[in-house]
Amino acid sequence: MSLPVEKTADPTVSAARYARRRALPRRLPVLTTLCGLLLLAGCAGDAPSALNPGGAGATRVAGLWWLLFWISVAVFAEVMALLVWALVFRRGNARVRHGQPLRFVTIAGAGLPFVILVAVYGVGLRDLAALGDGPGPDAPTVEVTGHKWWWEVRYQGASGATANEIHIPVGERVKVRLRTDDVLHSFWVPQLMPKTDLIAGETRETWLRAERAGSYRGQCAEYCGTQHAHMAFLVVAQPRTDFDAWLARLDAPAREPRTDAERRGQQAFVQGTCAACHAVRGTGAAGRVGPDLSNVGSRWSLGAGAVPNDAGHLGGWIANTQTVKPGNAMPPQPVDAAQLPDLIAYLRSLE
Ligand code: CUA
Repeated sequence: MSLPVEKTADPTVSAARYARRRALPRRLPVLTTLCGLLLLAGCAGDAPSALNPGGAGATRVAGLWWLLFWISVAVFAEVMALLVWALVFRRGNARVRHGQPLRFVTIAGAGLPFVILVAVYGVGLRDLAALGDGPGPDAPTVEVTGHKWWWEVRYQGASGATANEIHIPVGERVKVRLRTDDVLHSFWVPQLMPKTDLIAGETRETWLRAERAGSYRGQCAEYCGTQHAHMAFLVVAQPRTDFDAWLARLDAPAREPRTDAERRGQQAFVQGTCAACHAVRGTGAAGRVGPDLSNVGSRWSLGAGAVPNDAGHLGGWIANTQTVKPGNAMPPQPVDAAQLPDLIAYLRSLE
């Protein structure tokens, strides 16, 4: 017994493929809408978008973006209107009186674009000058060094260091000095400032200013190796008094252990392999290869945005970072299973 076969217009096309082909035009609007919704999902409220500026630098860039966008919309509408006009009143249509085409082309095709381009160029130069106008000599200065794949953060006037987190006072311009320890990176906080590349052998400068308190996500914006995507950081803008208190802590010894587990963890940290690469202020651990861990318990993530900063992820990170962030400089650690909970307790206590 054979099943009934659907007839197709082309005998070489199977019934199933024929049905799919016929259905495609009907599904096209649905597919287009879905794609549009997916694109719009990227515009969610807290996305670190350059079009949702939180500071003076990004506001300039957003203004320029919208100016270019609306000019593009106007030009597109004008070209489409001319296209429709040309189709409706094409040559041979007896009702149309052709005027002076040369004058029209000179004004609309050359004069108008020239005026628009010169105006946009002028606005661009104005914004460039405003962005290049850095803060005064008394402004707080942050020294940021790019490493594969994390950000070392130091402050002028403070002995300590932190990583992947930059604190700034709200409403003030903060100078940022940028260096790289290895390859090209790019420092980008979309909501605060456009990108600045970090080039080997050079010190480059930019500045940050946030108009409102909160956290602004930053990201390395230059491909720098396998973990380029996990080279994120956070800019935390806080009221001046909170910033001063935070900076004072960065200059003081790290918090002392309070429980027996924390004390055992500190001992394991200082006497074990950790101290060869990491520092904790006020202890014998003074390694400079990896991030300073004096306030690691308070940081927003582990591995520059690779995983959340909680006890579970910290344990996995200590035991073998290569399973979490393959390729990073920290080799798997031969940590005694009995010591691991103490190390976690100690590092979590460092705030
Ligand atoms: Cu550093 Cu990409």
